[in-house]
Amino acid sequence: MQINLYEQLANELGAMIASRVFAPGDRLPSIRHLAQQKRLSISTVMQALRLMEDRGLVEAKPQAGYYVRHRAKMLAAMTDTQHLKEPAFVGITNLLMRVLSLNEVPNIVQLGSAWPPDEMLPIKRMQRTVSSVARRDPGLLAKVSVFETNEPGFLRQINRRALSWGGQVDPSEVVVTSSCTEAMSLCLRAVAKPGDTIAIESATYFVLLQMIESLGMKALEIPTHPKTGPSLDALELAMRAGLVQACLFIPNANNPLGCVMPEENKKRLAALLSLYGIPLIEDDIYGDLCFTPERPWPVKAYDTSGHVLMCSSFSKAITPAARVGYVVAGRYAQQVALLKTVSSGATSHFFQAVLADFLDGSSYDIQTRKMRRVLAQRIARMSDAVSSYFPVECSLSEPQGGFVLWVQMPEQIDALALHHTASAAGISIMPGPLFSASGKFRNYIRLNCGNNWSPEIERAVAKLGQLVHRAADASACASPSECAESAQNP
Ligand SMILES: Cc1ncc(COP(=O)(O)O)c(C=O)c1O
Repeated sequence: MQINLYEQLANELGAMIASRVFAPGDRLPSIRHLAQQKRLSISTVMQALRLMEDRGLVEAKPQAGYYVRHRAKMLAAMTDTQHLKEPAFVGITNLLMRVLSLNEVPNIVQLGSAWPPDEMLPIKRMQRTVSSVARRDPGLLAKVSVFETNEPGFLRQINRRALSWGGQVDPSEVVVTSSCTEAMSLCLRAVAKPGDTIAIESATYFVLLQMIESLGMKALEIPTHPKTGPSLDALELAMRAGLVQACLFIPNANNPLGCVMPEENKKRLAALLSLYGIPLIEDDIYGDLCFTPERPWPVKAYDTSGHVLMCSSFSKAITPAARVGYVVAGRYAQQVALLKTVSSGATSHFFQAVLADFLDGSSYDIQTRKMRRVLAQRIARMSDAVSSYFPVECSLSEPQGGFVLWVQMPEQIDALALHHTASAAGISIMPGPLFSASGKFRNYIRLNCGNNWSPEIERAVAKLGQLVHRAADASACASPSECAESAQNP
């Protein structure tokens, strides 16, 4: 794909910031200077700087120019890429239910769940589309098919969209499902059985852990780099030792890390799957919401042997209420289709047709382009606020997509205890241990950055920072009486 001159300049300056040619706090050359040096127009340079602002790399200071932003430390890369624990049965559901029961109460400041706020979704356009499809084809409101469960118009759109991710979809490989969650759950049942071991990223989305738990399977946590994703050296060791029966990864904007696997890693992963005959269930729900200069391809784009089952839905960019997802299931399509039929029958033909209408034309591309820009800004805003209010020892992820931030706090902070104090203060967060099969990430939290920035959110982040400072101070006290004193006088 060709990239614009302004994107080229933004990437070039971004690389200079990453390699600290320009360090935090440095002023970039002026717009006029950059235009002269790079033989570009002023407006191209301004577009590049605005893009860098959206990516959270620089900030404009009135009358003074563009400065590289100060940030908290970024999460360190894992040191031991080959260290694997034993596969283990998962048991997070009880903890998750306890956390959600405190998070999902009215009027709480929602930094916990990872749903896009309604304000960002194209609800008005959906309203019009729902009415027009119902008027045009009322029969769909009563339709349910046992044999043809995929609505042809929706299937056509899935095929067309494959152009954007470098794929070519054979229609017989596609199974329409009632969500990305349902797609992944059917895939797991199709490719593995109770007692089997599933390789997962560490950290990973807690619903994937719950799925593995509910199916009586084991999880093997693969060390995962906060920028480049799972260690393929570690994964290959596990595959070679016959430890793994399937993989379940989120290669494009992992939740909670926000990392995107580099293309060469995806190619290598596809080759490993083919070599060892192991399926990958790939969650690509954030593929269209990545901030990388180009839409990152999923592993499915490199799959020549049919071992990748790519799952997605439009829950994040159109609406989670449609409950329509799909899987491009490769060589496992028949098993997945059978499981879909016996589990829940066809997904609503009406909502498949509504989404097909929405996807036909430019609305979806306009919507995702806007979301990417706004989400990158909101993440940058949240990262800045956490950098200012939390202790300096904290480190942050650098999400390349989606809308969550992963925060590593000082060693002594217990995220579960923090979750309790935060919810008592009217703030929801997601504690780190929910993202691990083995109770890792005790001192991590995930924050939702999707909300529009407001004084209420700023106050919530400041309050959270205060709670983290207080917990750090309390655990640093020598005696219980000192601790009590410091807790009373934070
Ligand atoms: C990584 C990931 N996959 C899937 C989902 C859920 O998608 P759906 O609503 O289509 O089931 C989420 C929602 O938070 C998610 O973060």
